[in-house]
Amino acid sequence: MRFKLPVLIAGGLLLGVCLGLLIVPGALQRVVPKEVVRTVGTATVGGPFTLTDHTGKRVTDQDFRGRFMLVFFGFTFCPDVCPTALQVSAAALDKLGAKAARVTPVVVSVDPERDTPEQLARYVSSFHPRLVGMTGSADEIAAVARAYRVYFRKAKDERSAAGYTVDHSSIVYLMGPDGKFITHFTHTTSVDALAAGIARRL
Ligand code: NI
Repeated sequence: MRFKLPVLIAGGLLLGVCLGLLIVPGALQRVVPKEVVRTVGTATVGGPFTLTDHTGKRVTDQDFRGRFMLVFFGFTFCPDVCPTALQVSAAALDKLGAKAARVTPVVVSVDPERDTPEQLARYVSSFHPRLVGMTGSADEIAAVARAYRVYFRKAKDERSAAGYTVDHSSIVYLMGPDGKFITHFTHTTSVDALAAGIARRL
């Protein structure tokens, strides 16, 4: 069987490129689009933030170094998902006993308009004595939500006195003492599963 010369050259080049991708270290990673590589990693959840806690104090991510953080994004006027997530988080920490002292539960408001530090102070005390509520300017909240890849959006709600509610993702993040993302849970995770999931990483 006789191949035409251009076909042989094209075939040879293709073979060469394929072999090159397999043999040269990192070559495949350079060719595969960056977006694909990024979604495989978990390092991009979290990051620096500057907010105001429920006592009115300005806080940054640096203030939490050396402690695990159990972070949830929600708002005090949320009728069901937020209270469930916070109750489950509090119960899981209680279940962990003394070990839980290394974990600081945090709720970041996605409704800074209504969630003043005073409003947050009343709210957090009803869930856990160590729960830290955090709020901030619209820009600060948008920035921290972006860093944690949290979705939130104001939506019309006739039943609410303020006329709106806030749709938001309900993910519970476990962040390490170095501020880096460890794992996440959802508001449907059970108390036992959450306690076990945290204990495994302490
Ligand atoms: Ni909620």
